[in-house]
This record gives sequence, C-alpha cells and structure tokens, in this order.
Amino acid sequence: MKLRIKRDKLFERLSSSVLDTGLLDQLKAYKQHGSSTCYDHSISVAKAALYMAMFLPFRFKHEQLVRGALLHDYFLYDWHVTRPEKLHGFSHPFTALTNAKRDFSDITPLEENIIKRHMFPLTPVPPRYRESLLVSLADKYCATKEVFVAIRNKIGSTAFPRYSRAVARVLPHTLAYLFAMTIAFLPWT
Ligand SMILES: [Fe+2]
Ligand SMILES: [Fe+2]
Repeated sequence: MKLRIKRDKLFERLSSSVLDTGLLDQLKAYKQHGSSTCYDHSISVAKAALYMAMFLPFRFKHEQLVRGALLHDYFLYDWHVTRPEKLHGFSHPFTALTNAKRDFSDITPLEENIIKRHMFPLTPVPPRYRESLLVSLADKYCATKEVFVAIRNKIGSTAFPRYSRAVARVLPHTLAYLFAMTIAFLPWT
C-alpha cells in the first residue's frame, strides 16, 4: 500500500508536463476497451508501468517512462468509429507518435520508442529500451484487465453466486497478469 501512495505522488509530479499541455484530455471522449476511455487507459498504463519500475530491481528513467506511457495511445480518434487506411492495431502507434511530436517539442528517443513499439509482438520490431518493454507489458496487462472487467460487469454477480465479490474482483487482475506474463516470456522477448 505504501508503494502505491509513493507511486501516486511520483506520478503526479512526472505526468504534469504531459497532462498540463497537449490534447490528452481529448482521449476522454474516445472509448478504448469495455467502458474505459482512452484517457483512463493511458493513465492506468502509465501508473502500472511506474509501479513495476519502482518494484523491480533495475534502474528506470521514470519521467520518460511516464511520459511515453501517457502518450502511447495518443492517436486522437475513436477506433470503433473511424477506420484508418491501415488496420488500427498496426498503425496507431505511428499515428500516436506523429501527434506527440506535433504537440510536444521535447519528445526524447526513449519516449519515441515507447510509443512506436508498444504493440510488440503485433508489430514485429521489438522495444529497444527496458522502459519500452515495461510499457508494452503494462499496456497488455491493463487492456486485458479492462476487457475482463467489462465482461464481468456484463455477466454480473449471478455468474459467481457463492464467492461473487472475491472472484469478480480478483479474476480480471489474475487473467490480465497471466496474459501479460505469457507475452513476456514467449521466445520473442
Ligand atoms: Fe495501443
Ligand atoms: Fe494501450
């Protein structure tokens, strides 16, 4: 719990350069997975990546990690409605990077790599930095969790009659964690 509070304080400080400028607020208008918006998703990914970075025994560039994570889905359209020329899954990291470079003059090579490579292994070029790999993992964890939370909300507690609360709370996190770990330990990483 203590680490979470420490993470939230650090996140507040490191995220301000992105949250106070640019068009991140626009992401509130676009749905991502289930009922969560692209904005909620970006915040969740940045917080999850920062939490892991604080927990793991490696050095991470925390500010660039948070900024890159916040901008990883900065594509600024509703992918359920707008159909880009190339498939959204493949093209949106590059759209996000183009938008980020337009709205922020100080995007670093590390932040660029985080944005461009977060869909690995769907896009086959692997992340170059450990921060990029962490955001890619956090993205998969959060996306899976959001989908399972949406399914859980749709099914309702009737599907889990006896242990409804505990199961419904823990299941999305567990499945998301297992999925992200599977991706992490497959031969391509
Ligand atoms: Fe994405
Ligand atoms: Fe994402």
